Amino acid sequence: MTNKTQSNRAAVLLGQVLTFLDDPAIVGEERSHTCFETGAVVIDAQGTIAWVGDRNAVPDEYAAYPQTDHGKCLIMPGFIDAHLHFPQYRMLAAYGKDLLDWLNRYTFIEEQRYGDAVIAADAAGFFLDELLANGTTSCLAFSTIHPVALDALFTAATEREMAVISGKTMMDCNAPSGLTDTPQTAYDDSSALIAKWHGHGRLQYAITPRFAVTSSEAQMEVAGTLKQEHPELVFQTHLSENHAEIETVARAFPWSKDYTDVYDRYGLLSERAFFAHGIHLSERELLRLSETGASIVHCPTSNNFLGSGLFRYHHTRQADRPVSVAIGSDIGGGTSYSMLQTMRDAYVVSQLAGSRISAFDAFYLATLGNARLLHLDDEIGKLEPGKLADIIVLDPDATPAMAVRNAISTSLHDILFALLIMGDDRAVRETYVRGKPSKRRK
Ligand code: GUN
Ligand code: ZN
Repeated sequence: MTNKTQSNRAAVLLGQVLTFLDDPAIVGEERSHTCFETGAVVIDAQGTIAWVGDRNAVPDEYAAYPQTDHGKCLIMPGFIDAHLHFPQYRMLAAYGKDLLDWLNRYTFIEEQRYGDAVIAADAAGFFLDELLANGTTSCLAFSTIHPVALDALFTAATEREMAVISGKTMMDCNAPSGLTDTPQTAYDDSSALIAKWHGHGRLQYAITPRFAVTSSEAQMEVAGTLKQEHPELVFQTHLSENHAEIETVARAFPWSKDYTDVYDRYGLLSERAFFAHGIHLSERELLRLSETGASIVHCPTSNNFLGSGLFRYHHTRQADRPVSVAIGSDIGGGTSYSMLQTMRDAYVVSQLAGSRISAFDAFYLATLGNARLLHLDDEIGKLEPGKLADIIVLDPDATPAMAVRNAISTSLHDILFALLIMGDDRAVRETYVRGKPSKRRK
């Protein structure tokens, strides 16, 4: 981004400023965050955070910056969605029996359209604008097998200056011919796309075999080779979401100890590996994920919608073999673009599974937690000088029902909890990407 094309972003945002400093599950709620009730965030001309603190202490040098007063609204880092599918943006709420039925009946049909560059470009624009309207400023997303679909997503992300991580999906079996590649084309296309896009602006490429059900041994080898050739890349796939899926993988890879072992054998477990769902993992698998530093992405609205099972958050993070947990909407198995609604279901599932997460846990996961796991925390996830101004403004009084509820809030936790239980895109008053107001819809 040159200064020539970049408008002056200098601004002072006023409101209740909240930023997480560390994981509440580790340092406790008190030390996990900072909140300035009458706060200010100063953004410089390039869209970088210059100063954060109380509005009465804003340094004189910023006195001439235009001010936007967001009143009692919360100003916090933009949400980061660690797992979702951009080509599924039209197929939310598709009525199916379970994961494999839903994939075959709807998903694999819909995703075949993405070989068409016009369809893909239209989809990418809608998808990213919908994320921004919901306060999500960055994501780790699936595309389809088609290079033009990834081109469309990355082009739309570049136009919006968003940090998006994605990759061409690899699938060479158990899917319609319109949605399969081969080990060789997967290698060739992925290599070309890495060269074209990885590190372009805020974009990163992710090695993306869909899951072990739709990749042959030869294609899993290719995924391993790509990872060896590009160890710095994020790796994403699905793992242990559904019992029939797990049985299918056991039949396809009869030598494996379990589902996790399939990915492990090809060298795909690392601190940059993201496994969506991870609901039905054995102790051996959890131990192995912990040893390698890999992350599970909790996708509660999707797990609930597809009846996949109750993810055990505290069990997964158990101190003697902690597995890192990120959080994602999993559009379109997931039912909402909103990370507030995603947190809501995470809370409900934790209750049903017998161990409660707090609003602090949930907001941490969707901001600094996901930023750290995705290695984006040098740029985003926290409001502090030097970070890019990917910022959202949340209105706890967004609807009449929310306003009357919030009238009896007595603590920050109360405000956050009511926001995540009752809030959605209506609660997102503004979304700033690199300091630029970006809440928009077509
Ligand atoms: N497993 C493999 N592909 C998918 C997908 O598109 N959605 C979900 N929820 N699970 C998957
Ligand atoms: Zn998924």
